[in-house]
This record gives sequence, structure tokens and C-alpha cells, in this order.
Amino acid sequence: SDHDMNQARLDEIERRLNEAGEVLAAGGTVAFPTETVYGLGADARNSKAVEAIFAAKGRPSDNPLIVHIASTHQLEGLVTGINDTAARLMEAFWPGPLTIVLPVMEGAVSPGVTAGLDTVAVRMPDHEVALQLIAAAGCPLAAPSANRSGRPSPTLADHVREDLGGRIDGIVDGGATGVGVESTVVLAGDDGIVTVLRPGGVTVEELAPFAKGGVQRDPALRSGAGVPGPAAAPRSPGMKYTHYAPKGELRVVAGSAPQVADRIQAELDAAKARGEITGVLAFDEHLPFYRADCVLSLGSLARLETAAHRLYAALRRFDDSGVTVMLAEACPEDGLGAAVMNRLLKAAGHRIIFV
Ligand code: TXA
Ligand code: MG
Repeated sequence: SDHDMNQARLDEIERRLNEAGEVLAAGGTVAFPTETVYGLGADARNSKAVEAIFAAKGRPSDNPLIVHIASTHQLEGLVTGINDTAARLMEAFWPGPLTIVLPVMEGAVSPGVTAGLDTVAVRMPDHEVALQLIAAAGCPLAAPSANRSGRPSPTLADHVREDLGGRIDGIVDGGATGVGVESTVVLAGDDGIVTVLRPGGVTVEELAPFAKGGVQRDPALRSGAGVPGPAAAPRSPGMKYTHYAPKGELRVVAGSAPQVADRIQAELDAAKARGEITGVLAFDEHLPFYRADCVLSLGSLARLETAAHRLYAALRRFDDSGVTVMLAEACPEDGLGAAVMNRLLKAAGHRIIFV
């Protein structure tokens, strides 16, 4: 019967999760789905396991990792203090795509996890598979995105296999992730100010009601306002690296819609004439106007959730299609648009054309 089939499937999933949990408990590395992107997990307390994450990804060792927990009980013995603002954020957004930077308890995690900082970034993912895996492992999991360093974050298990196949001890396939961009990383000040170190799945607008002192963006994040690159040393060390870079050259075009479309098509035509393989990343409202070798949609401008969900897979598609010159439409930086533009500009090495 259907019921028996379902039960058999659930039993099989449970068996695999327990198996993966044992691998993690023994110091192995396992990739798993979260609501944002796939993570590459390892026991956060085990230095050998944490080193294996850095080795598999080819990640610079000065870039700290996010620790994933399945229950707030796991904060005991991990952090030394949770102020009112941090507590309110946990209450409101956990489980969910919000990472909170907290004072780390000495010796609680392997030094590689914090990269020498006196803080640790913690989040509780909103994904049944991730939560069950953490529980099965019986330890907090350090987990960066499960891509090779410099590649777009994986939103499918296949992306993980492409990047890390043969370099890690397991992959739990949970299908496509939901949000598609990483979690928002914040500092919760004792003064009630919430500082966004990395825009992500939880928007500034959503954070505002829980920040008595207001929400501010880390000054190092200024990007949309015509500033070519990070201005100050970012407090989220990962933000200083060129991430998500496709193999070809990507440029973002911002401005009013008709001018943007005209400029993008002119750039595509010029590139084509030089013998390049061209790609365009655009919103549905303007898609019919473009002629390029590879035209990819970020969905409707009215639903930037779709753009977030599709962005990384689109960048990988360009690579797979051998595209050498790509143009992308900018989007408004409201809501999830802030995270989309942040990732798009990083992928473009901050090459942006204003028209
Ligand atoms: O959605 C996500 O957050 C995904 C999934 C797998 O959970 N993980 C993720 O991890 O994006 P990763 O390693 O790719 O990015 C972690 C970010 C980096 O920008 C890093 O610098 C920052 O978090 N970070 C980690 N620890 C920090 C700390 N103590 N203080 C400030 N930033 C920190
Ligand atoms: Mg990453």
C-alpha cells in the first residue's frame, strides 16, 4: 500500500541519516542540505575533522566557519553570553537562515572553526534533514557551503558531487535547497543594534522589528552605491574573498530598464563580434529582448525569492555552457534583492556599469 511504501522510504532516509551521523561522529566530512545551500559538515570540536573541511574545499584558513545546531541547548558549552537582542533574534528566526556571531567559550570548538577570533558564528538551519543529521551526529557541526572555494555555493547535491566528489566522506541528497543564497550573518550588539555582516536569507526589513537600536549594514558591505569594492576591512572575514566567480567574465548593468536592456544587448553584440560565447542573466520582464548564446532567467522582478533560488545554479550553467562573456541585470536592493545583488557583484568582481 501507499502507506507501506512511504514507511519504507522514511525508514531508508532514517537509516542513511544515522549512517551519515556515525561518519560525522567518527570525525568524517559529510555534505548535507539546508534551507539555504548545501553545507559540508564536520564535528566542530574535532580539529582533524575541521581541517578536512578546509582541505576538501581549498578554503583559506583565516575564514571562520558557521557552527550548526539542532537545539538551543547546544549553545550551553559553546558560547559565553547571549544578550537580549541575540535572544530575540533566535526566538524570531531560528530555525532559519540567520547566523548570529556570539562570544565563544574557550576550548568549545576547534581553533580552525573561529580562525582565531573570540567569537563563533552559530545558526539553526530550517531543514528537517539538517536538523536530524545534527541530532544523529550528536555534536555541533561546523559547515561552510559545500563548494570548492571560489565556486558558486551548491543548491543541488549534484553541484556538491561536481566540486567535492571523491574529496569528502559522504553526501546526503535532500533535493534542491529552498532559499538559494546563504544565511544572513549578524552581530547583535549589547546596545540593541543589529549589524549585518553578510546579507542573506533573512532580510534587513525582517530584522528591523527585533533590533531596538536599529539595523545597520557593516560599512565594508557598501557596494550598490557605486563603490567599486569593499571599503573597510570586513568583520565577516569571508566577505573579502572573491566568491562565486564563474569562469567567464561577468559584468552587472544597473540603471533604468530600457537603457539597461540596450546597453546589455550592445555589450553582447560586441562580444559576439569578437568571437566570444555570450550569456545574459535577466528578469522575465525583459527576457524577450535579449539575443545571446545562453539566456537565463532569474524569474520575475516582482519575486526576488526566485532570483535568490536560481542565481548559483545559473552561474554554474554558464560555466557548463562554455560562456566566456556574461551580462547580468541588477535588481533593487530591497528584501532578498540585497543578498542577490551582493552575490552578483561578488561574482562579477564588482564590475558594474551604470547607465
Ligand atoms: O547558509 C549558510 O550560512 C551556509 C549553510 C551551509 O549553512 N553556510 C555558509 O558558510 O555560507 P560559509 O562558510 O560559506 O560562510 C560563513 C560566513 C563567512 O563569510 C565567514 O567569514 C562568516 O560566516 N563568519 C564565520 N564565523 C564568523 C565570526 N566569528 N565572525 C564573523 N563572521 C564569521
Ligand atoms: Mg561559502
